Amino acid sequence: MGLFSKDIKSMEDLFQHQLEDIYYAEQQIEKNLPTMAEKATSPELKAGFEKHLRETRTHVQRLEQVFAVIGKEAKGVDCEAIDGIIKEAKHVAKNVDDKEVLDAALLASAQAVEHYEITRYGTLIAWAKELGYTAAVKPLEANLNEEYATDKTLTSLAEKRVNRLAAA
Ligand SMILES: [Fe+2]
Ligand SMILES: [Fe+2]
Repeated sequence: MGLFSKDIKSMEDLFQHQLEDIYYAEQQIEKNLPTMAEKATSPELKAGFEKHLRETRTHVQRLEQVFAVIGKEAKGVDCEAIDGIIKEAKHVAKNVDDKEVLDAALLASAQAVEHYEITRYGTLIAWAKELGYTAAVKPLEANLNEEYATDKTLTSLAEKRVNRLAAA
């Protein structure tokens, strides 16, 4: 995000900018999750990506509610951070042949995405409270909770993978 851009003058501007940033990020994630689901070998991982794709569509809609709360039009702003994470994920996935290793790479990339979202939502919730955007807190928290749950699922899938390898 262009954090130092001159048109961000107040906390309200900063909140709006951060909201546009995560709105863009969620849309990029929505665009890329189908490919990740396609590439996953483990049926559980595939199902996990498909479930989170459905949730991500809801995240976009909840963010539109937040735009409505602050009386601004829903629009995204290029987010270099999520672009970088997704670009790296694609690059790694393209260079992995072994299916087992590819699943590990997809898990790691997906966790990087979730952690990015978690940090963004944490900040937005704190700022929404600070600015008195009370009605924005609930939809933001709903998104955050689903990111947490997804991260937890990914961790348990990663652990299962390691245990499976150890038992082989
Ligand atoms: Fe999300
Ligand atoms: Fe997510």
